[in-house]
Amino acid sequence: MNHNIMGTTKVVGIIGWPVEHSLSPVMHNNAFSYLGLDYCYVPFPVKPDYLHQAVNGIRALSIKGVNVTVPYKERILPLIDELSNEAAQIGAVNTILNENGRLKGYNTDGLGFYKALKAAGINPKDRRAILIGAGGAARAIGIYLALKGVGGIILTNRSQEKAGYLKNEINKISPGICEVIPFNENSIKKVLQKGDLLVNTTPLGMSPKIEDSPIKSADFFREDIVVFDIVYNPLETMFLKMAKQAGCCVIYGDEMLLYQGAAAFEIWTGKEAPVEIMRKFLKSNLGNYTKST
Ligand code: ATR
Repeated sequence: MNHNIMGTTKVVGIIGWPVEHSLSPVMHNNAFSYLGLDYCYVPFPVKPDYLHQAVNGIRALSIKGVNVTVPYKERILPLIDELSNEAAQIGAVNTILNENGRLKGYNTDGLGFYKALKAAGINPKDRRAILIGAGGAARAIGIYLALKGVGGIILTNRSQEKAGYLKNEINKISPGICEVIPFNENSIKKVLQKGDLLVNTTPLGMSPKIEDSPIKSADFFREDIVVFDIVYNPLETMFLKMAKQAGCCVIYGDEMLLYQGAAAFEIWTGKEAPVEIMRKFLKSNLGNYTKST
């Protein structure tokens, strides 16, 4: 990476707390260099209580755009001027574009998930998605899939109440598409059918508790399903290891991270993201991070 920051350089970045382990700076800065774009991506650690000032800072400093990560994806909504359709439906923002002081919020998490599926040759229109978890990530994925058209959505979550709430939100978009089942392996096994897409959206299996998994029995998995884990630390979680051994098609969490970043890149620059370059630098830097994007 060799970029001279000049008076003309457009600044983008990430706001969150913490952000020091984010892989987004290396992914974006190398993509800007590769295309010879006069942009620079900077981490902005925003302490709790300073979100309001930070958002005004985007306007005041003419920052071109930012990614938004934990814990601000929902809290930032009332502070910006406009929302994309997806961000409004999901109720969370992970990307902001600054157009002459007017801040528009987007959510590229669901799109990132969808593009990761497409890149693996999987079309969700033909399939049912079984989502384990009902937090922010499940919400972005479930709502985006419902907006795009999916064969069906089954939710299973430790808190039934939270799953029920998300089910209602999804069914508002596509009536009757979503149902909730109890949070245990047997219940999932009972509904599992050939071609289903099983997704872990919980932090179970994330470093340092790498022995954890939302599914504990190796014989649960059948080779005719697709298994996606959005955890990317470690890249091969226990959940994916068992699925792979059973012969399932598996998709790793860094693919969602890659495609949500590529979508943000396109929002800021208006140029097609160099996905292969971004993937290369993401992969070579995996291991130096925690949970933030
Ligand atoms: P994110 O916004 O990144 O999705 P989150 O909102 O904290 O994170 O949601 C995490 C999801 O993982 C939740 O659905 C949570 O279940 P609850 O709704 O019951 O809290 C689930 N989760 C987290 N830790 C879990 C654990 N140890 N066992 C089962 N589910 C867990």
